[in-house]
Amino acid sequence: MKTAAMGNEQWATGLRDPEPAAPSPALADFAQNVRLGLQRTPKQILPRYLYDELGSALFEAICRLPWYRVTRAEIGLLARHGTDVAACLQSPVTVVELGSGSGEKLLTLLEAMDLEPRPSDIHLIDVSAEALRLSAQALSRLRVSVSLHQTTYRAGLQQMAAARRPDGTMLGLFLGSNIGNFHPAEAQDLLRGIRGTLRPGDALLLGVDLVKPEADLLAAYDDPLGVTAAFNRNLLVRINRELGADFELGAFEHRAGWNAVASRVEMHLVSRRAQRVSIPGAGCVATFAAGETIWTESSYKYDRAGIAALVGPAGFRQREQWIDPDARFALTLFEAAGN
Ligand code: AVI
Repeated sequence: MKTAAMGNEQWATGLRDPEPAAPSPALADFAQNVRLGLQRTPKQILPRYLYDELGSALFEAICRLPWYRVTRAEIGLLARHGTDVAACLQSPVTVVELGSGSGEKLLTLLEAMDLEPRPSDIHLIDVSAEALRLSAQALSRLRVSVSLHQTTYRAGLQQMAAARRPDGTMLGLFLGSNIGNFHPAEAQDLLRGIRGTLRPGDALLLGVDLVKPEADLLAAYDDPLGVTAAFNRNLLVRINRELGADFELGAFEHRAGWNAVASRVEMHLVSRRAQRVSIPGAGCVATFAAGETIWTESSYKYDRAGIAALVGPAGFRQREQWIDPDARFALTLFEAAGN
């Protein structure tokens, strides 16, 4: 009689080939976005895929570049106004950060807030495992419980809403002008989602890069050292590695441009010649005309009125706003308005 054990033995001796492992949900999602995005006109891949391990490290390098002043301006504001933020919150404070980056901003804020007792729970939501690792490492010297959620903002927010403790204040952090990487309609939708996980009286601290002269924006997104170009082209390295594609890196050029009408910096990868690229892991072949681009990121820039018009309709009331001395960056504290 053939037993289950015999069946296993037959498997172990290799008489039957094992089924190929199914791709992870994250890889399947990446493959689908690449396939659908390269079918669009213009071709487009979502900016969240820029952040694999190397992409996250390159972004950290960008934050230190003299031409990219977003991070330094924001950290200065967080250090100066942490106590003002703390004054608006009721203990115990639960902190949720969307897009944690290196953890440096959160650490600066928590130290400047000087809350006693310290926030009881900290939740970090990021699609990048590397960003979560860096943040957890940066926060390890504060003795607080840190929960990591490696997922999209929306899924992370849903997890948070389910795990929300009944008392105290929730402080949502959406820093680094990450909101600028969303189309304004999507940004407002996301803000509504954030508002949906907060109770009236909870707070949202939002960091937004302000409109500034075009030359400054172009230097920030096409820096003379080529770090931003490497960050952009690393997307092709990632597609080659994870989806078995044959993108030739030298055949694509980094381009950053200011779209004044839409108030955004656009980042593209420009095909230097007509070419075909096969992407077996996404089940497709992409054809490029010379000069055709893949749009990899938009970075919207706002003024003060634009911030109010974006956030107010999502159910928030502005409490405080701090602008850095060079008028480059705005840190705004909002309160979740009553239903
Ligand atoms: C993460 N995000 C807010 C950055 C930005 O400024 O849009 C990403 C970036 N892209 C190029 N340089 C920095």
